[in-house]
Amino acid sequence: MKIVETVLDLEKQISLARSQNRKIVFVPTMGALHEGHLSLVRTATEQDEAFVILSIFVNPTQFGKNEDFDRYPRTLDEDLAKLDKLGKKPDLVFVPSVAEVYPDGLPVSLVSRAGAVGSVFEGAIRPGHFDGMLHVVNWFFRTVDPDVAIFGAKDAQQLYLIRRMVKREFDSSIKVIEGETVREADGLALSSRNRFLSPEARQLAPRIFEALQKVRSQIESGEEIAKALEMGRLALTGLALAKLDYLALVDKSSFQPISAGFTGIAQLLVAVNLDGVRLIDNISFTIQEPA
Ligand code: PAJ
Repeated sequence: MKIVETVLDLEKQISLARSQNRKIVFVPTMGALHEGHLSLVRTATEQDEAFVILSIFVNPTQFGKNEDFDRYPRTLDEDLAKLDKLGKKPDLVFVPSVAEVYPDGLPVSLVSRAGAVGSVFEGAIRPGHFDGMLHVVNWFFRTVDPDVAIFGAKDAQQLYLIRRMVKREFDSSIKVIEGETVREADGLALSSRNRFLSPEARQLAPRIFEALQKVRSQIESGEEIAKALEMGRLALTGLALAKLDYLALVDKSSFQPISAGFTGIAQLLVAVNLDGVRLIDNISFTIQEPA
């Protein structure tokens, strides 16, 4: 496992790997690695002829002014120790500095890539977040030039926008793989933010996934979408310490809200502020025509 900090060193390693006919498989992260990230690394190392690159970079341009950029956990030594314990480790860990990624300094003017999808759900609460995220993913894609890139299903809107950018700006030349959301035994989706949950909030947190599953099962047993969502919202607004940001059902292929009569793959999205910690989650399921 090579640890590389500069684009120059990265490019040397990539051309060496390419000369050995290896496929570049890329897993971008912001560090504070947990089992969710490690599961993406496992998927990466399973790809044929993979040369696996994992990046760790806390990207300043995707954090809003009042967000937790400074508070974001930076745990490089622990992260490297976790990677080192894997049966199959990444071939290379890329840990660039802010100056390496933003050589002209900050702030940068961001290209408006996220468009309308960037201002709903997570984008409504975190203005500019998705343009900052797409900016850095675009930079990584151009720098790493991966054959395959792996992202978690946990961040549904992020994944939707990345897929769209790959189609629009990379001519679909990068294969994007979606890694399943890894959860605690009680259903709470793993997140680097979970460490900030108070003991009371941690105990209530599994109710979020429970609410998603309940809405899903109601829709599957024929309940009207609007009614099932309303019941889900009631359950979450009634939760102690919680402020519901949104609970919404979208068409996974367009990220547009769906209503009665929809058939296809639906994605149920939720964001809850639980005692000061923002948690997001989602599940996907197929809605079939009524029999
Ligand atoms: P980060 O939050 O570190 O997440 C890195 C990757 O891990 C993302 O693809 C995310 O969806 C995935 N992930 C997080 N929690 C997961 C879980 N419980 N199960 C499965 N996968 C999970 O997302 C980012 O970083 C950044 O926005 C980034 C894409 C690196 C750009 O800066």
